[in-house]
Amino acid sequence: MKILIKGAKIVNFDDIIEGNLFIRNSRIAKIGEVSEEPDKIIDAKGKFVLPGLIDMHTHLRTPGREDEEDLWSGSKAAAKGGFTTIFCMPNTRPALDNQGQVNWLLEEAGKIGIIEILPVGAITKGREGKELSEFGMLKKAGCLCLSDDGNPLEDSSLLRRALEYAKMYDLLIISHCEDKNLSASGSLREHLISSKYGMEGIPWASESIAVFRDIELARYLDTKIHIAHVSTKRSLQIIKKAKEEGVKVSCETAPHYFTLTIEDLEKSHFHPNFKVNPPLGNREDLEAIREGLKEGVIDCIATDHAPHSQGEKELPFEEAPPGVVGLELAFSLSYTYLVKAQILDLKDLVKLMSYNPANILGLKDKGYIKEGAWADLIIVDLSRSWQVLPHKLFSKSKNTPFIGHTLEGIVEFTICKGKVVYTEKGKNG
Ligand code: DOR
Ligand code: ZN
Repeated sequence: MKILIKGAKIVNFDDIIEGNLFIRNSRIAKIGEVSEEPDKIIDAKGKFVLPGLIDMHTHLRTPGREDEEDLWSGSKAAAKGGFTTIFCMPNTRPALDNQGQVNWLLEEAGKIGIIEILPVGAITKGREGKELSEFGMLKKAGCLCLSDDGNPLEDSSLLRRALEYAKMYDLLIISHCEDKNLSASGSLREHLISSKYGMEGIPWASESIAVFRDIELARYLDTKIHIAHVSTKRSLQIIKKAKEEGVKVSCETAPHYFTLTIEDLEKSHFHPNFKVNPPLGNREDLEAIREGLKEGVIDCIATDHAPHSQGEKELPFEEAPPGVVGLELAFSLSYTYLVKAQILDLKDLVKLMSYNPANILGLKDKGYIKEGAWADLIIVDLSRSWQVLPHKLFSKSKNTPFIGHTLEGIVEFTICKGKVVYTEKGKNG
């Protein structure tokens, strides 16, 4: 299949150019004038072409909770949101902690073939934090990174060994930073608001204590580590300092941490769709996250797409599971609250949602639009807005705090390895 994308503004993290883009089979064949006849022409005048987005942190609930999300619905949601590559977390039932599980997942993902689904293996067997998984086998099966996401690794000596083995096998450890003794059974940030309502809170130190320990181990072992879903000002101060000192630490945040605070949770009357782990912080945290994105202390925006069934999200706030869906909203939330708000420019956004994740995970020929790269591309119209309506979401679960919100920027086409995998209704190219 040959596709000609005509007259778009082509955005990379370091440049924006206007021109034509020619896709032959699964690769970008040419940028500029082309004489070859295409099979399909997409007129993209006035639109922007960006590298396909890459999500380092998605929960696809497969195997085990396919009622909440499966590989098909997750892929459709990802494609609609502009993601062409997603990494799925191993907190499934059973956990993705061995070669057999990972092989199975990749095989199933291959059958769907909408976007690229890549596995995050578990650091410990059953994600129990007791015994390391077989890192060599997980690498051989196709894992590029490992995480016990949802659970922190409490045993520092186990994390030390995990980092050592990960270094040996060139795997990235993605760390869920939380001191479980401090967060205990808290369900929101410890704050005047939690006290006012007599609810058990999670102190901000629960995250940064773990961030500090993990960074110290990475420093000690001279190896890399990636910190998942950073949500506090203090964590960012620690990460920034460590980066300045040369520690090989990278980190991500998620859109809800630069758009919402605990005040919004109160205003929602403690709607479980605002419950997430780590919990929503205060205004200072939100400002620090925005600043961290602007300064480059935060490397990536990941979704932490965490689907939960309606039944479970209708439980009382304290009993409901934490997590929000994000695949279909992340781009527009980031565009609206960061680019439109003039905190970042479009190139910065491409860096955070595509170029940096590709680099951190060593994905070849992804995250940058150039001749010879995979034709993983999205075409977006930044002059249009849309309303978040639950029945319009492709994800099986609708647990987002943004229901009813109007967001700017629409993904009109998603192309993965040269195949159009999503077209917004009414667009025929
Ligand atoms: O809010 C969250 N939900 N945080 C996590 O770390 C796990 C995730 C989930 O799997 O639901
Ligand atoms: Zn997590």
